[in-house]
Amino acid sequence: MPNSSQTSPPRRATLGKRSADIASMFDGVAAGYDLTNTVMTAGMDKGWRRAVVETVDPQPGQVVLDLAAGTGVSSVELAASGATVVPCDLSVGMLTVGRQRHPQLGFTAGDAMRLPFGDKTFDAVTILFGLRNIADTVGALREIRRVTKPRGRLVIAEFSTPKPWLVRTAYHKVVLPMLPQIARLAASNGVAYDYLAESIKAWPDQLRLAELMIEAGWNVVEWQNLSRGIVALHRARA
Ligand SMILES: C[S@@+](CC[C@H](N)C(=O)[O-])C[C@H]1O[C@@H](n2cnc3c(N)ncnc32)[C@H](O)[C@@H]1O
Repeated sequence: MPNSSQTSPPRRATLGKRSADIASMFDGVAAGYDLTNTVMTAGMDKGWRRAVVETVDPQPGQVVLDLAAGTGVSSVELAASGATVVPCDLSVGMLTVGRQRHPQLGFTAGDAMRLPFGDKTFDAVTILFGLRNIADTVGALREIRRVTKPRGRLVIAEFSTPKPWLVRTAYHKVVLPMLPQIARLAASNGVAYDYLAESIKAWPDQLRLAELMIEAGWNVVEWQNLSRGIVALHRARA
């Protein structure tokens, strides 16, 4: 009898970023996603998530959308403040794992291009390592703005362009090509991490993303580099 690895080849998306391919790829890595993340980033992801929570500074009574929340690893930290946090994601696999790990959170299925929320619902929206996976960046940023209250905040954490030349060169020529191998060692789907490396290389740098946020109607756009620009944290107001 054929086993499942013979019948279903490992899934990965392409830079066309079709929603169905993206969802299917994340469904396939959901179970091992959090562990693979920690291994691949050598634990640095914890500091990046902490920086997002500190920037949002959620307060009890506020409602925060954690978009592209995956398994809710950041949603749970945001919710520790006493704010109501709504983790939302496209991938049923990620939502299922998230609901098992954090049953206290109200995981919601939704596509960033057509969010299942009314206008001006949220005091703040976070999106960590999610925006890069959406084909229409400006369209998604406009849709996020629609569901954000006037003067409400957006905080984006995303892989970016390291600014010191030496760090950038080592990152692009050594670190990114190694990611699929590291993912395989962490027992995850290596080809999904080929997509990760390609999508990071093709992603706009810090200034260009800020320009796209302004194009989508966001105000007071600022950013700070984390880990020398390997990650950038952009923030803005609706
Ligand atoms: C790299 S994971 C990040 C998950 C989580 N935010 C974290 O920091 O661990 C990207 C997530 O974005 C989700 N995603 C991709 N496209 C999306 C879309 N159009 N709408 C909602 N979620 C999306 C994927 O399903 C996946 O869970």
